[in-house]
Amino acid sequence: MLTGKHILLIIGGGIAAFKSLDLIRRMRERGAIVTPVLTKAGEEFVTPLSVSALAGSTVYRNLFDLNDEAEMGHIQLSRVSDLVVVAPATADLMGKMASGLANDLASTLLLATDTPVLIAPAMNVRMWQHAATQRNLATLKNDGVGVVGPNDGDMACGEFGPGRMAEPLEIVAAIQTHFSAGPLSGQRILVTSGPTHEPIDPVRYIANRSSGAQGTAIARALSALGAEVVFVTGPADVPPPAGVDIVHVKTAQEMLGAVEATLPVHAAVFAAAVADWRVDCASDRKLKKSKGGLPQLAFVENPDILRHIAQSKKDRPKLVVGFAAETNDVLENATAKRLRKGCDWIVANDVSTGSGVMGGAENTVIVIDEHRTETWPKMTKVEVAKRLAERMAQALA
Ligand SMILES: Cc1cc2nc3c(=O)[nH]c(=O)nc-3n(C[C@H](O)[C@H](O)[C@H](O)COP(=O)(O)O)c2cc1C
Repeated sequence: MLTGKHILLIIGGGIAAFKSLDLIRRMRERGAIVTPVLTKAGEEFVTPLSVSALAGSTVYRNLFDLNDEAEMGHIQLSRVSDLVVVAPATADLMGKMASGLANDLASTLLLATDTPVLIAPAMNVRMWQHAATQRNLATLKNDGVGVVGPNDGDMACGEFGPGRMAEPLEIVAAIQTHFSAGPLSGQRILVTSGPTHEPIDPVRYIANRSSGAQGTAIARALSALGAEVVFVTGPADVPPPAGVDIVHVKTAQEMLGAVEATLPVHAAVFAAAVADWRVDCASDRKLKKSKGGLPQLAFVENPDILRHIAQSKKDRPKLVVGFAAETNDVLENATAKRLRKGCDWIVANDVSTGSGVMGGAENTVIVIDEHRTETWPKMTKVEVAKRLAERMAQALA
């Protein structure tokens, strides 16, 4: 199944484009969400209307289209998917990809994307066998691009040999293999992310500056390694990752309920910045200014979700990873927190004013486990996430 997987499908200008209509249908039957992109030449072989109707989505065609850019900018379009599939991948598209050209929407997306790419080449046998195409193929494979087909067979041009696009079901199988492969396949992993909002009254709440960027990057990195990710998120600034189960919550109490509902899981990463306290008996009416003075807010402690799960007797995940956001004595506080909470690893970061971590794109973390303390160099949150996901994959192997 491809349930919830976002696939960006680029349809190039080849005879085999008609097979991509069936490919769209096959992917959607398996639960994929397909966003189609059609090259100018592709439009000569299939109509935007049929592509759009089958995909149940806008079909993107032009790089310089104000409407498309307003709906979803081309950079965002290249990032929201879990996989980019190019079918048919023309000799021209392969050449552009191999040499980093970006002179239309399809090639710009392919250069701007940071998600894996799978191509299904289709072309005349002589074009396929040409030294230039074979050079481009080698370059693309070396760049980590996945390739399915081409097959041998009779071609529309009357020749016989390699160059026929793989059949839609073969492409679907390659897509499924892509998603099921990876060191974390078969592992169900919970990730919490974002801040919580604790109500004062119907219009006011207590929050914190967590953007959700680090938790989102971790969920994406775990999913990319093949994990089945359940993502429990507070009201975050960044959009949630694609291809994972998403549960939206607002308060710490709701987050605990959602976390418990996901158990059992093989591992859990608690990256959410959960409010320690909430207002006792939040008002169900908006608090009014009064001459009598300022409102008196009484606080009660919120549930400690990390400790609760790390110390639970029933359904404790095999690997529990907590986050420690500290403003001072980072190492000492985080070391003590790991022991106090009972989690396996603590990822500590300095969130003091000036560190730029809260809401920023970079992070400097210390990972503490039972045996050692690792200080990682400053890197982007996406890089922290990838390194953490790989470390988790090793621990869970
Ligand atoms: C009838 C016809 C069929 C074509 N079939 C293919 C094909 O199967 N594979 C290919 O690489 N190019 C094929 N081409 C050439 C491409 O359409 C041409 O290289 C185009 O510039 C590709 O644009 P694109 O890569 O942006 O889609 C065909 C052209 C015509 C006129």
